[in-house]
Amino acid sequence: MTDRHSADHLKSRGYLVTSFAALDCSEPLAAFQSFIHRDRDYQRRFLQKRYGYAYDGFSFYGQTDSSHQAEDDLISTFVLSEFYPVDRYPAEFQGFLKGSWKEVVKTVRSLETALLAQLDVPGLLDFYRRNAGHMVSSNYYPPLQQFTSTAAGNTRLSAHPDASLFTVFPFGVDEELELQLAGENGVLEWQSVDATDRILVYPGYLMEMWTQGAIKAMNHRVRLSDNRAAERFTFSLFSLPFPQRAFEMPGRGSMTSEAYFEAYGALF
Ligand SMILES: [Fe+2]
Repeated sequence: MTDRHSADHLKSRGYLVTSFAALDCSEPLAAFQSFIHRDRDYQRRFLQKRYGYAYDGFSFYGQTDSSHQAEDDLISTFVLSEFYPVDRYPAEFQGFLKGSWKEVVKTVRSLETALLAQLDVPGLLDFYRRNAGHMVSSNYYPPLQQFTSTAAGNTRLSAHPDASLFTVFPFGVDEELELQLAGENGVLEWQSVDATDRILVYPGYLMEMWTQGAIKAMNHRVRLSDNRAAERFTFSLFSLPFPQRAFEMPGRGSMTSEAYFEAYGALF
């Protein structure tokens, strides 16, 4: 499933293009497209603040009170997860949640478990098995020509590390994703990731905190497209602790899921 050097690649390069073939995204794509085309009044019934844990719910361009995206990011998102009952989510997503979502999570869980076994960070695989669930962020980037300004740093999605243990792209990756990687002289620089039909994974802030900085969260962003008329859909999976869990965080002592999100939020 993962080759025996996967963890070494992840640690040395900061991200990993796995040997797993990308999964079929047609079901979540159709679901998200039909949601994104509903009117704003309907979408507002599912705003992030109507959920309350992690990032679940709808966030939109220009929104000032989303913890999932910055106000000027040129994006609207819908996050759904294992943290709420399926019937809390919009009708558009019900088919996906009762269908291929379970397979997507199973594949990602198997990939992450294999990677964690290789990484062999004391206690981390046990933490993951006891506490980790998954969310998917469905990301819609409207055509650039709709906007008169850009996100911070002249981007489409401003630079940030994710809150996840791992961020996984189960449906592969399109062009325009950029990662902050060490260049030839060791200085960090923005590099475009080649589009791939393999599953790609990088660590988030939960990994950085757990390993006390030994494995860094990948800072990433989405650059402006050359095609100003093209819209863009992407999906990323985060592994995160279920609500109201308490666990030992190396170097910090006992921590709850909620305290973890507060610590992550303090980065911004
Ligand atoms: Fe991200």
